[in-house]
Amino acid sequence: MYKYLKVYHSPKLAGEVPISGAKNSALPLMAVTILSNRPVKLTNLPGVADVKTMGRLLENLGAGVEIGEGYGIFDTSSLTGTTAVYEIVKTMRASILVLGPLLGRFGNCRVSLPGGCAIGARPVNLHIKALQQMGADIKIEQGYICAEGRLKGAELFFDQITVTGSENIIMAAAMAKGKSRILNVAQEPEVLQLCNTLKEAGVDIQRVGEREWEIVGTDGELIPIPDTHIIPDRIEAGTYLAAGAITNSQLSVVDVIPGDLEPVLAKFREMGYRLEVEKDKITIYPAQTIQPVQIVTAPHPEFPTDMQAQFMAIATQADGVSLIEERLFENRFMHVQELNRLGANIVIRGKVASVYGPTPLVGADVMATDLRASSALVLAGLIAKGETRVHRIYHLFRGYEKLIEKFRNIGAKMEIGEEPRP
Ligand code: EPU
Repeated sequence: MYKYLKVYHSPKLAGEVPISGAKNSALPLMAVTILSNRPVKLTNLPGVADVKTMGRLLENLGAGVEIGEGYGIFDTSSLTGTTAVYEIVKTMRASILVLGPLLGRFGNCRVSLPGGCAIGARPVNLHIKALQQMGADIKIEQGYICAEGRLKGAELFFDQITVTGSENIIMAAAMAKGKSRILNVAQEPEVLQLCNTLKEAGVDIQRVGEREWEIVGTDGELIPIPDTHIIPDRIEAGTYLAAGAITNSQLSVVDVIPGDLEPVLAKFREMGYRLEVEKDKITIYPAQTIQPVQIVTAPHPEFPTDMQAQFMAIATQADGVSLIEERLFENRFMHVQELNRLGANIVIRGKVASVYGPTPLVGADVMATDLRASSALVLAGLIAKGETRVHRIYHLFRGYEKLIEKFRNIGAKMEIGEEPRP
């Protein structure tokens, strides 16, 4: 059977949404268990497809993997495999996160080169360059990154800020011989959680500047990665606040770290929404008039590209023209044509989308293209008259745990539709 998501007009929402653990923190923390000399329990592990894929990848390498409701236990003592196979990597680009740890632990590995992606080319040249500077010999053979060599500490500079690139090299540096100094490192909260976990494991890792870290490696000796509670998913939290914003409702997200959402909260305020921020809870209140907004995506602590599509959906209801510039990924406007199918008036000029609001939206069939684009279509579906049918919903379940249940609990009407394949 073919499945899609039916989103019905749900003009008012209310209540509280509990936020799950961050997918983008879970994935590097699962990868870093490759460096562990003890089984590692991760709690607040989100039940999303990407986490299951990383679990399959570790299992395929020979690790013991147990994933249950809200936790996972990863025992890499039996890990012998050093090849991350195409069949798994092709379904999730973040599989590249095993490159640094495998090379650091075994001195050789093969990781399938991730292929193209809907949101942009997303090369991994910066991961490879840094490993080469640490002494690895790397060749691309038959679609695989084949890496060999014992890693040595080095002076490294990322030409461009990269999240998984930083994580890969931090993990590699933790296993290298000697000290590494890494500059222009990503400072997303998920990267910081990885660094803190390594520090707790006893690795000599220090933040010595704004985007600068020093790490003394263990020369291949495995380390006691501690059991870790995964930080809340700031993008999931932002998405549910966006649901409050687009329906102009009062609702709260709980179990969050508000500080990690600052750039997003600032834009809600600019659009006229009032926010109440408590220790681990944020409440959004309706705006009198939804103001247009100007957004430029950039690495943390600036506005996250992973919230761009959701704000574009809200901007369709703003009173005026919003300008949204996507600077990180060259093709992350795939939702624009779909939002326009619902009645939005959005024009793309180069890297900038102009959103002419307010426009009434009417339900239609729309196609999800990536995780965050899909969530924007769900948000738009809430205010579209009638029924919106979102296709290719597997994208949504890669990163949003219990999406339908969480939305229903705040009063949204949605369900899975099923039809025989045409
Ligand atoms: N880049 C290169 N060469 C590289 C690496 C990156 O040119 O070797 C470029 C990319 O093409 C892009 C920019 O650098 O233009 C930044 O990409 P980055 O490497 O930071 O992205 P990523 O690590 O592949 C992570 C998140 C993404 C999120 C981006 C940006 C994970 C698992 N994924 O991807 O999350 O959009 O950082 O913040 O952490 C999502 O969750 O939906 C998602 C796509």
